[in-house]
Amino acid sequence: MAPEREPAQLALGLPELVPAGLPALEIAPEWKDQQRLWGHRFHPMCSYLASFPAALTHAFIARYSRPGDVVLDPFSGRGTTPLQACAEGRIGVGNDLNPFAHLLTAAKVEPASEAEARTRLTALRVRWAGEAEAWLTLALRVLGSPGTDGVRVPAAGSELRPGAPGADAEPVPLEVALCFAPRTFAQLLFVRSSLHLDDHVDRFLAAAITGILHGKSATYLSEVMPNTFSMAPRYVRDFVARTGFTSPERDVFGCLDAKLGRLYREPLPPVRGIALLGDARDAGDRTRTALRARGLPDRARLVVTSPPYLRVVKYGYYNWLRTWFLGFDANAIDAALDDAHHKTAYLRFLGDVLDGLREVLSDDAVLALVIGDVEADRGRKISHGIGLAGAVWEAAAEPAGYKLAGIALDDVHAGRKMTKLWGDEAGRATKLDRILILGATEAGRRRAVNGAPLPVDWEWPPRRLRAV
Ligand SMILES: C[S@@+](CC[C@H](N)C(=O)[O-])C[C@H]1O[C@@H](n2cnc3c(N)ncnc32)[C@H](O)[C@@H]1O
Repeated sequence: MAPEREPAQLALGLPELVPAGLPALEIAPEWKDQQRLWGHRFHPMCSYLASFPAALTHAFIARYSRPGDVVLDPFSGRGTTPLQACAEGRIGVGNDLNPFAHLLTAAKVEPASEAEARTRLTALRVRWAGEAEAWLTLALRVLGSPGTDGVRVPAAGSELRPGAPGADAEPVPLEVALCFAPRTFAQLLFVRSSLHLDDHVDRFLAAAITGILHGKSATYLSEVMPNTFSMAPRYVRDFVARTGFTSPERDVFGCLDAKLGRLYREPLPPVRGIALLGDARDAGDRTRTALRARGLPDRARLVVTSPPYLRVVKYGYYNWLRTWFLGFDANAIDAALDDAHHKTAYLRFLGDVLDGLREVLSDDAVLALVIGDVEADRGRKISHGIGLAGAVWEAAAEPAGYKLAGIALDDVHAGRKMTKLWGDEAGRATKLDRILILGATEAGRRRAVNGAPLPVDWEWPPRRLRAV
């Protein structure tokens, strides 16, 4: 049942944009007016598909949490919510089942200091100077004979040097070998085997390297494809065969040094957060255990998250060069994630997630779920992706005992414009995201409704931490 309308719940006169019978919650989408890179400098460390802008998380962090509160994202992706929360003095907790997402989140909320990162980079440079010849010889042999039956290289994080016992651990996929100039490739093989992803400094450097692995400018280590995501391996093989493309020589240490310069333009977030690896269905329990182990408050007051979209993104496949560098198995990632559900299974999954979160939520917790509308399923138009937020409320959130504050629109103006242009078609034609705003209890719902009209300070970096 839809709760009674309260002052902040304004009917927008757009019944097709907010599912029938459900209240709209007017939160001005001011995040749309901010600069593309608004927020802490660590956010753009590496591109990540379907990430939301830091400014969007700020709209909720500023309204619905105070410094010292725990802010949780059970589907943290590249760590946007937990990083922005830490940058604003909250305890940001991010959980994701994708090890690549976990690495990016951990790098941002448990970062290396600039001194630590630069000291480690210098140590790597010095070691490289002594070992360059052996790695270059290995790289040239791989480039001459890549692929499954080709020359083998040390595993990621193995610390093994070429020629050492066990150093012939794995072959290099042809499409990986095609991406780099020989010396760049040799340096990458060296760095890949040297970095330990369970060490916070090495993890920070590894995450920074994933951000410069490929892209179309001199700041990137390979120019074979754009930065956003990896082109299909077959496309890369065909493209190189057809055009004879070779990537320009790039110095990994120089490019990483420049990347660190960009990342450290702003001080570290004042608060350290927590990055957890695991299924969102158990994120409540995992989060509570982790918070208690650190002696921190063990309830989250705010959740800002965007669950996986319906059958849209394959995080392993679209990041195969990054997963190779990190030593992760792209196929195993795609097999594990819940990105491939049809609607019924998806709603059941979200119901389980919301059920599992209850134990870690404070009584007055507010949840903002950004639900992306999906127009097509692998090229075929679908109708059930539209208005998904309403279905999530009815089939997943209400049965788990949450209270509905309302549905906010990601872009009210675009919605109005589309309605004018397309009339009744607007609901079906738009790619508008809807943000489902819930309270853990009635107290949370009231807090969500009462906080909606509060003004938000958009100055970044902020003059002082906001307390609402
Ligand atoms: C839309 S993305 C979130 C992006 C994030 N808001 C950001 O700004 O980067 C959804 C995330 O859900 C993760 N995911 C998929 N299935 C999961 C599961 N069962 N448990 C936890 N995370 C999962 C994916 O790895 C992906 O990072």
